[in-house]
Amino acid sequence: MVGTGIRGITFWGKNVQDNYKENIEFVGLCDINPGRVAFAKQYMGVSCPTFTDFEEMVKQTKPDTVIVTTIDATHHLYIIKALEMGVEVMTEKPMTTDEDKCKAILDAEKKSGKKVIVGFNYRYGTLFTAIKEQLEKNAAGEMVSVDFNWYLNVYHGADYFRRWHAYKEKSGSLLVHKSTHHFDLLNWLIDSDPVEIMAYGSLDHYGKNGKFRSTNCRPCTFKSECKFYTDITKDVMLTDLYTNNEKYDGYLRDGCVFKEDINIYDKMSVQIRYANGVLVNYSLTTYSPYEGWRIAFNGKEGRLDSSEGIPWENEAINQEALHSKEFNKDSKTTETEHYDKIFVSKNFEKHQLIKVPVSKAGHGGGDQKLHDKIFKNPNAPDPYRHAAGTRDGAMSILIGIAARKSIEEKRIVKMRELTDIELMAKRG
Ligand SMILES: NC(=O)c1ccc[n+]([C@@H]2O[C@H](COP(=O)([O-])OP(=O)(O)OC[C@H]3O[C@@H](n4cnc5c(N)ncnc54)[C@H](O)[C@@H]3O)[C@@H](O)[C@H]2O)c1
Repeated sequence: MVGTGIRGITFWGKNVQDNYKENIEFVGLCDINPGRVAFAKQYMGVSCPTFTDFEEMVKQTKPDTVIVTTIDATHHLYIIKALEMGVEVMTEKPMTTDEDKCKAILDAEKKSGKKVIVGFNYRYGTLFTAIKEQLEKNAAGEMVSVDFNWYLNVYHGADYFRRWHAYKEKSGSLLVHKSTHHFDLLNWLIDSDPVEIMAYGSLDHYGKNGKFRSTNCRPCTFKSECKFYTDITKDVMLTDLYTNNEKYDGYLRDGCVFKEDINIYDKMSVQIRYANGVLVNYSLTTYSPYEGWRIAFNGKEGRLDSSEGIPWENEAINQEALHSKEFNKDSKTTETEHYDKIFVSKNFEKHQLIKVPVSKAGHGGGDQKLHDKIFKNPNAPDPYRHAAGTRDGAMSILIGIAARKSIEEKRIVKMRELTDIELMAKRG
């Protein structure tokens, strides 16, 4: 593994070590921060050596697969180097952050003959799989357009503005870092390739918009006034992983959400035209009172609606606790608590409510299914084509990259400008 931050050591680290011991063995851990990689080894309960030099790790330990969980803008360095050294790769999303790095990854994969898996966990979720099933049955007739809105609450949304995600040069902006999940879902559910993108975006709430600011929360003099103040020292895991290792790289995990130099957007709206004629209206909000999303597929014979997290019943969901769960994913939890809904309405006909049992496990059960597919049953049948490779990784980030370009250059951006991948009306 390279990149022993929170995602690496929990989801790809301890969870995999605890649940797939009989199938895999960690042979090396690498991070540029020596303190963090030492903590990772202890936290994951592994006995392998640790490194701060990636090439040295691969040379010495000769892994079958490298797991890449570094910050987004550096994924390409390790994906390409691993492929050149004859090693397969499992990379976290987003595959990378710009079109040139994307092409370099695709070229390296082709040249090496080795495979790259992109860890798109959302696809495997129970609700999205049930939506896919309905769409494959043509539940609303031939698809013509999609409405898709994603809401990040003030805890989860704000967290992206505390650290490296807040800079386009590190995360590609949330249109790449976060929306890659959503664009991948759209590509997979619509089953066609995007051809044209138009977007708007601005920074209206975080960054320069704050009335006061500091470098980070601990020394801040506005603690009592700031709704976004957080005391990282109360969280043992965050203290062990980040605060105790600041001395090596200056990474402040409790960075101020109102830093003047934040350059990503906090409100985004994107329109996408697909090769099969489907039009998408998508938006991402980063300071919502609740976390959730809604989607609707408009067909020639009706409409399919679904949503998650919208407190219609005035449910008292603790939004802060919801965000903390992100850091404590137990991918083996399978207990179900209630059900999600898909509503299929046919023109001039009756409506149908489909109830989908909710899994409490991470990302609607998607996390465990993704792990099973990679570490347990790589050759298991995949009727809904959940498994994602570099083409899927590329198509999803390229929508975000095109959207970013569209905002910056105030124009429609064609996928053709960014890639020579052949665009297909039906991906299949
Ligand atoms: N699929 C999901 O739901 C999901 C959720 C969270 C994070 N992620 C992805 O996981 C990755 C890691 O995110 P995180 O939240 O763990 O971030 P993090 O900041 O906790 O960890 C990143 C780690 O990378 C290390 N690093 C930075 N630059 C490096 C370099 N050049 N070489 C080697 N190591 C380097 C840092 O020291 C740090 O330990 C990101 O790509 C993120 O997009 C995916």
